[in-house]
Amino acid sequence: MEQAERSPAPPGAGPFSYPDGGDARATSAVPLPCDRRHLLGLEGMSREEILALLDAAEGFRARLRAGGMPFDDLKGVTVLLAFFEDSTRTRVSFELAGRHLGATVATLTAAGSSVSKGESLFDTVQNIAAMGVDLVVVRHGASGAPHFLARHLGVGILNAGDGRHEHPTQGLLDLMTLRDAWRGNFEGRRLALVGDVAHSRVARSAIFGLRALGARVTVAGPATLLPAGVERLGCTVVPTVEEAMEGADAVMALRLQRERMEGGLLPSLGEFSRVWGLTTERVRLLSRDAVVLHPGPMNRGVEVTPEVADGERSVILDQVENGVALRCAVLARCAAALRERGPLASRVRCGRDRAPDGEGA
Ligand code: CP
Repeated sequence: MEQAERSPAPPGAGPFSYPDGGDARATSAVPLPCDRRHLLGLEGMSREEILALLDAAEGFRARLRAGGMPFDDLKGVTVLLAFFEDSTRTRVSFELAGRHLGATVATLTAAGSSVSKGESLFDTVQNIAAMGVDLVVVRHGASGAPHFLARHLGVGILNAGDGRHEHPTQGLLDLMTLRDAWRGNFEGRRLALVGDVAHSRVARSAIFGLRALGARVTVAGPATLLPAGVERLGCTVVPTVEEAMEGADAVMALRLQRERMEGGLLPSLGEFSRVWGLTTERVRLLSRDAVVLHPGPMNRGVEVTPEVADGERSVILDQVENGVALRCAVLARCAAALRERGPLASRVRCGRDRAPDGEGA
């Protein structure tokens, strides 16, 4: 089994253990070298690679809209959805994407699994991999958890959100939605990101993706919810929501992540809404054809008023639709990379094929 390189941790790296007893806080946030079996983050992903995924997702969207599922793109592939944190959009859209493409899809959630009896993340996923799984889609509260699994298990790992680190498929579906709104051109465009940046993996993936495609990002939020040194990610910080939104080509409200907050970061939800919320008046500050995004789940009346969430500029449900097609593209890419390396683990485990030396789960 491959040994991990120990390098600096992603923000908020969590308390899970290496098989040798080491500390996951020492795990690497650096993506594995260009290994397309995995999708761990958008940091470091090239413009060409991002655009290829967006093109593929558009192709899947056209096929899904035309109907006729299930297709057989992922026939013979087994996908595990391992969700150690709650999810609606990401989990259901990965499940639909897998099923639409003919994969076998199984789901594991922390509640009701042996995780509640103290089984570690590594042992849990290793046991399931031994059942014959090819791709594991993992959401975990600890930043770096998917990287840890990718380094230790021979299956493809797709990051469905790790702590406050990255949420790459959300970042890609946001890019897909913005590409539609911006008629294919990211150069010279600007997104305003407003709200709880400190706890937001969505913000980090959006910044990495937009920077790779040549767009700019302006960030605004309460000082207690802006991470120190956020400018180093490649964005500009401004002091007010009005300044962020003035002339922007899109605005994304970030959810207040109350489950990740320690006390005292905000005076009150009402105060946050009054100072930072997206209102009809503030949306008028945007450029003429600008759009409003929210990754969900939305705290209606806190980050965004119902009039804005349901208004004509809102593309929030387009984001959700695009999420299914985008996840089809990502699953197909990772499965293709696995197939290039030899027989799929699910087939080897079922005794149908022999794995090449050193391969397989
Ligand atoms: N945007 C997002 O990740 O939503 P879920 O938590 O519902 O998956």
